[in-house]
Amino acid sequence: MSPHVIEFAFTVGCTRAVIASEAGRGPGPQVAAAPDIDRCIVISDARVAELHLDGLRESLRESRVPVESLIVPPGDEHKSLGEAVRMYGRLAELNADRRTALLAVGGGMVGDLAGFVAGTWMRGIPWINCPTTLLAMVDSCLGGKVGVNGPTGKNTIGVFHHPRLIWIDVALLGTLPQRTYRAGLAESIKHAVALDAGFLDWHESHVEGILAQDADTLRVLIERNLRCKARVVAEDERETASLTSDDSIVGRAALNLGHTIGHALEAASGYAWPHGECVALGLVAEMDLAVTIGGSPGRTAIASKRCYSGSACRSARLHRSTCMM
Ligand SMILES: NC(=O)c1ccc[n+]([C@@H]2O[C@H](COP(=O)([O-])OP(=O)(O)OC[C@H]3O[C@@H](n4cnc5c(N)ncnc54)[C@H](O)[C@@H]3O)[C@@H](O)[C@H]2O)c1
Repeated sequence: MSPHVIEFAFTVGCTRAVIASEAGRGPGPQVAAAPDIDRCIVISDARVAELHLDGLRESLRESRVPVESLIVPPGDEHKSLGEAVRMYGRLAELNADRRTALLAVGGGMVGDLAGFVAGTWMRGIPWINCPTTLLAMVDSCLGGKVGVNGPTGKNTIGVFHHPRLIWIDVALLGTLPQRTYRAGLAESIKHAVALDAGFLDWHESHVEGILAQDADTLRVLIERNLRCKARVVAEDERETASLTSDDSIVGRAALNLGHTIGHALEAASGYAWPHGECVALGLVAEMDLAVTIGGSPGRTAIASKRCYSGSACRSARLHRSTCMM
């Protein structure tokens, strides 16, 4: 069966998302078809590399795409400027030029770091995202917000640089620890709470398939998330809507639901607490706050605008219970 292809057009770039319908096929044919890419440098973290790198490299080799690899240690503390600088050194040694694509294979940490390096090396070279966590498949792989953690906090150094291609194979989730898998659900529920009440209901009616990692359910979940996020990104590509005085445009700020408190928790834990779990806690706290301050107008209550409905609270409970299982 051929893979499912979704094209997203933004002002400063286009992203093709491919959701594989068969496990293990790899992105080789899609990369080989790009007329301006001669070779790939795969960036992965050590844990993901051990599990999945050989298969992905094989797919590229079969499609005659020359490939090198660059491995970083796992953990959000390595989404850092220091790690980016180390990569620039390796790219120089490998003579990476504008016909070289970086191919991120990993969760949101690897995607953000690789996308940042791609966006800044030679003022921007193409990059491809092969997400391997649920969080990365439903959220961080799309939108082009890439960066590293800075001395003053999470994601404070970054650029906007859309991936050319996103290759999603839900079979890669099979090796993910349950805790990491469930943490990723936070971003999916965030999209539903902030952007699509019907999607919230969908989560509740598909909770068994989601928790059992049923492949068909996951493909629907991922596509709905990508479409939700793409709508917001297209209307506010550089996250400037929150700077305007027009309260009717929420823009990309809506995607930060749960993140004000979530990021604070993450930083306070020294990045030891998983991002998704911090967002889940942030979502619940911000929704409780929204309900408490209910009725207060204005931009400070973006969350509350979306969270008055009973379904939002039901979803928070759903998430609380899935995190605890
Ligand atoms: N750019 C964006 O729009 C955006 C959106 C949301 C989150 N993020 C960022 O994403 C990051 C969090 O991403 P994450 O939750 O994917 O964490 P992560 O990338 O740190 O991965 C979590 C852990 O899972 C391991 N892992 C990944 N895939 C695996 C697999 N298939 N099998 C076994 N182990 C696997 C990794 O080695 C790591 O130890 C944060 O840095 C966050 O800021 C970015």
